[in-house]
Amino acid sequence: MRVTMIGSGYVGLVSGACFADFGHDVVCVDKDESKIAALLEGRIPIFEPGLDQLVATNVKAGRLRFTTDLAEGVKDADAVFIAVGTPSRRGDGHADLSYVYAAAEEIAHAIRRFTVIVDKSTVPVGTGDEVERIIRDANPQAEFAVVSNPEFLREGAAIDDFKRPDRVVIGGDDARALEVMRQIYRPLALGRSPIIEMSRKAAELTKYAGNAFLATKITFINEIADLCEKVGADVQDVARGIGLDNRIGSKFLHAGPGYGGSCFPKDTLALLKTAQDNEAPQRIVEAVVAVNDNRKRAMGRKVIAAMGGDVRGKTVAVLGLTFKPNTDDMRDSPAIAVIQTLQDAGATVRAYDPEGTEQAKKVLDHVDYCDGPYQAMEGADALVIVTEWDAFRALDLARVKSLLSSPVLVDLRNIYPRDAVEGAGFTYHAVGR
Ligand SMILES: NC(=O)c1ccc[n+]([C@@H]2O[C@H](COP(=O)([O-])OP(=O)(O)OC[C@H]3O[C@@H](n4cnc5c(N)ncnc54)[C@H](O)[C@@H]3O)[C@@H](O)[C@H]2O)c1
Repeated sequence: MRVTMIGSGYVGLVSGACFADFGHDVVCVDKDESKIAALLEGRIPIFEPGLDQLVATNVKAGRLRFTTDLAEGVKDADAVFIAVGTPSRRGDGHADLSYVYAAAEEIAHAIRRFTVIVDKSTVPVGTGDEVERIIRDANPQAEFAVVSNPEFLREGAAIDDFKRPDRVVIGGDDARALEVMRQIYRPLALGRSPIIEMSRKAAELTKYAGNAFLATKITFINEIADLCEKVGADVQDVARGIGLDNRIGSKFLHAGPGYGGSCFPKDTLALLKTAQDNEAPQRIVEAVVAVNDNRKRAMGRKVIAAMGGDVRGKTVAVLGLTFKPNTDDMRDSPAIAVIQTLQDAGATVRAYDPEGTEQAKKVLDHVDYCDGPYQAMEGADALVIVTEWDAFRALDLARVKSLLSSPVLVDLRNIYPRDAVEGAGFTYHAVGR
């Protein structure tokens, strides 16, 4: 199949490389010239484990190419995937669909034969109808069908998620389009991944409902963690105790500084807007959004309390800036609110992240960015672990203690055993333990 991805970011580039690896003929298009220039030179513009190798192999095999020329990329395609960003619209939290609609308009003028237009971006219910209308208006002769195919991959494990998904969701009712989609995903069907077909609207809503449910699970355990701290229980015991119940499941039950990232914050907000517009309020998700918003700065205040309540003139070492490990993505990372809260209270922040520093510099000012974890700790009054990169799981505690001016460790990801840290002479603060 000839597949074109419009948008070569985290989703478009990973999906495109994986489709090429399945044997399809793939063109990845992006309007960002620097991104395409990097890809043409063999450089990967994002950090995603294994992606450099996958891209290189498929480029070499002649199955994957890159262009800024959308019309050229689209004209011979069997399927054109829209994988552009859908950030929160400034001001009201609705999904900003301007990139999706602009892509649809450009695609409309470029198609030459029956083409399946696949919405892979996360978009509110009814967006497929609007994309269809835009294409029809722009090119009344065009032969096409619009399908929804939301993406569930996780950054940091994106290739594995794409190649071994829990399920693939395809929404649409055009028989020719569904056949093209089945051909594209055939390698996954052969590997026994469930491919489920449904209406376009159900597929669009499935993505939001899934993310809202996961955000709810995280927020639920975070509130239980707060209760654990008050009553003297360990949230990790409680999470294990409930997670082994098959009806609940153990994933997404790790207490921490609140969810962030490129999806949950904007997708929960967009779901609330859709719910309001349709007069079907989602009270649970409303509570989740409010609780999570409050939590991020509360974690900054937790650090201040751990340091005796006053951080003016003090220095805090922060390990981990990205919203989770194994990505360079800083979008809505809890580290932003934690660091800003500390800075607002008068602290100086020294920080280290294995991959996120360049992105962090775009969103966090006045941070002293360091080249390694131990460098960040030199002379600091406390150490805070915000993101659980593997590199932070086995720090040399004796060395840490010798570098800090006072031995305070705030572990917002619960990656250290209390006994070991206290045994090494630290004051240890975790979440819900
Ligand atoms: N990042 C994730 O983990 C993830 C997971 C599942 C779903 N999603 C969804 O997938 C979509 C894309 O997310 P992302 O993280 O890949 O975004 P991204 O910002 O990394 O990439 C989007 C790319 O689209 C390009 N683009 C925008 N308009 C274009 C146009 N008209 N023509 C060509 N290129 C254009 C941009 O230059 C950018 O490179 C979003 O709707 C997101 O919610 C993301």
